[in-house]
Amino acid sequence: MKVILATGSKDFGKKTAELIIEQVKSNPNSVLGLATGSSPIETYKSIIEDFKENNTDYSNIKTVNLDEYCGIDTSNEQSYKYFMDDNLFNHINIKKDNTFIPNGKALDMSVECDRYEELIKSLGGVDLQLLGIGSNGHIGFNEPNTHFTKKTNCVDLEMETIEANSRFFSSIDEVPKQALSMGIGTIMSAKKILLIATGHSKSNMIYETIFGEVSPKSPCTILQFHPDVTIIADEDAMSKVLINNLDVVN
Ligand code: GLP
Repeated sequence: MKVILATGSKDFGKKTAELIIEQVKSNPNSVLGLATGSSPIETYKSIIEDFKENNTDYSNIKTVNLDEYCGIDTSNEQSYKYFMDDNLFNHINIKKDNTFIPNGKALDMSVECDRYEELIKSLGGVDLQLLGIGSNGHIGFNEPNTHFTKKTNCVDLEMETIEANSRFFSSIDEVPKQALSMGIGTIMSAKKILLIATGHSKSNMIYETIFGEVSPKSPCTILQFHPDVTIIADEDAMSKVLINNLDVVN
């Protein structure tokens, strides 16, 4: 695992964006796995700035998103489809037809999960997967569990996740109780993984990701078994690591 410390949110976004842009330039046909939440926002801003300044070309890039809430329309500002268009896709020269997100309004969620898993395979798999992390260690929406879920699946969200994500909704009752998420196996199949985190609430789980016992109780720990993971975190998210383990940080 490579661990990169960022200083402040601008630097955090820039360092993460640089690695994604490097991937796009080295293979303009890349499949990018993308994430939502507050963590990637500065990264997407930096990607847009770079696009305006340097015309980085996304015309042959394909994207697959990690997850989507069940039951909310894509016109709803809280849907991850809306988030991605608003925070990234509307501002770069990517073809919308090349951007994929699970359909949270599908009639049969099990059929939708299989379709999404097959779609990722048909694209040739994910070259670079951007990942946030929940304060309970979830990646995508794979919540702490007794087993690691392999494929794209329909998840019951933990109360901790519903509470954490309620900040984006006008009331906690509006937060969907279920979501579709790439499975742990889907995520682990990506060729490279970029895990990003900011803030004290993530410090325990960033520590666990690097040093914890690998267990579905903290889904992020599975990343220890992936051959190409880079963690980028700010000082707060890295605080528990920095106390004793300065040597792991680049
Ligand atoms: C949601 C998403 C995750 C994301 C997590 C962290 O639960 N499904 O993919 O990693 O939030 O979000 P934030 O970056 O806002 O802390």
